[in-house]
Amino acid sequence: MTYSEQLDKAIERLHDEGRYRTFIDIERRNGNFPHAVWTKPDGSENDITVWCGNDYLGMGQHPVVLAAMHEAIDATGAGSGGTRNISGTTVYHKRLEAELADLHGKESALVFTSAYIANDATLSTLPKLFPGLIIYSDERNHASMIEGVRRNGGAKRIFRHNDLAHLRELLEADDSDAPKLIAFESIYSMDGDFGPIEEICDLADEFGALTYIDEVHAVGMYGARGAGVAERDRLMHRLDIINGTLAKAYGVMGGYIAASAKMCDAIRSYAPGFIFTTSIPPAIAAGAAASVAFLKRAPELREKHQQQAKALKLRLKGLGLPIIDHGSHIVPVIVGNPVHTKLLSDMLLEEHGIYVQPINFPTVPRGTERLRFTPSPVHGPREMDALVTAMDGLWAHCALNRAEAAG
Ligand SMILES: Cc1ncc(COP(=O)(O)O)c(C=O)c1O
Repeated sequence: MTYSEQLDKAIERLHDEGRYRTFIDIERRNGNFPHAVWTKPDGSENDITVWCGNDYLGMGQHPVVLAAMHEAIDATGAGSGGTRNISGTTVYHKRLEAELADLHGKESALVFTSAYIANDATLSTLPKLFPGLIIYSDERNHASMIEGVRRNGGAKRIFRHNDLAHLRELLEADDSDAPKLIAFESIYSMDGDFGPIEEICDLADEFGALTYIDEVHAVGMYGARGAGVAERDRLMHRLDIINGTLAKAYGVMGGYIAASAKMCDAIRSYAPGFIFTTSIPPAIAAGAAASVAFLKRAPELREKHQQQAKALKLRLKGLGLPIIDHGSHIVPVIVGNPVHTKLLSDMLLEEHGIYVQPINFPTVPRGTERLRFTPSPVHGPREMDALVTAMDGLWAHCALNRAEAAG
């Protein structure tokens, strides 16, 4: 078989499994979020409302962020021009890391090109620092954590999602002297459920384990200054490594870890994913730092965000739609069938100008295919009314079950 035929085969496999992904080509309009322009495959354009973005607070169009980026690009040009070690560390990178360390109450922070890379690079490097390390990883952890744990060459144990008894069982089964680390998330983004942070920290104390938390879907949005769920629950000091993104609630790009100075120094020095890649552009670092600083003092935006999520959940529940509600900002509506989910998503987009991406296996288990809505402070009453009306109509049109709220 030729190389070309093998590529055909690989792509065909995805089509056969219903897993082939197509991009929806959209352009957001600065100053007019959550509205965007959708360029259809035939080249024509439609105005749409984005309901599945992860720019949870609309910071991607915030004047404070844009001004910081413009200023930095005018002052220093486009790219950083190097890796952090070789000419790519600027005052902007240092300022961002100081802002993040302060946010999480840690001695240090380390910025990576994304939170994916931060997870992968850190988790795959830790066994080099702690020979014999065993990593206990929640089964629903994000792909970036799975990847980091998988290829680090060390021992791993996968515990059932949020199952503390299972985690305890696994910890008890291992050598009490072995170095250990528990890796989990504060908010699991597909169901919007919370990780049991305090209980995991208790287990970590009992078994002498380090703790690693991914707060990607929480930073900017929870806690008095937006440091995440651990801040809200006053648990930040009990976590050894906190991972976050600058690309979702902060509206820009990049990822990081916050930890002790020694931990960051070691990761900085050993992680190929940090060392051998160009640092983020200064303008990105400047925009992210401005966003983090702004959100430290914007509890009203966090409040509005939560209110929006509550309002949407209440209205969808009122229609009897099967939503999952764990009290977070994420609003998943379970359709339970990949064909129906895709159909609903297509009809919302084409007939109502509402963009919500279908979420199918393997991102979520089969039978739980869903539409995942991310309401934000930039969604107004008009947008919410339009969404609720469209969902009501389509649910009836497709003769889908109305159910009691789950979760
Ligand atoms: C839980 C979790 N961790 C990490 C990431 C990666 O974040 P980034 O987009 O900054 O790479 C994501 C992205 O969706 C995520 O959902």
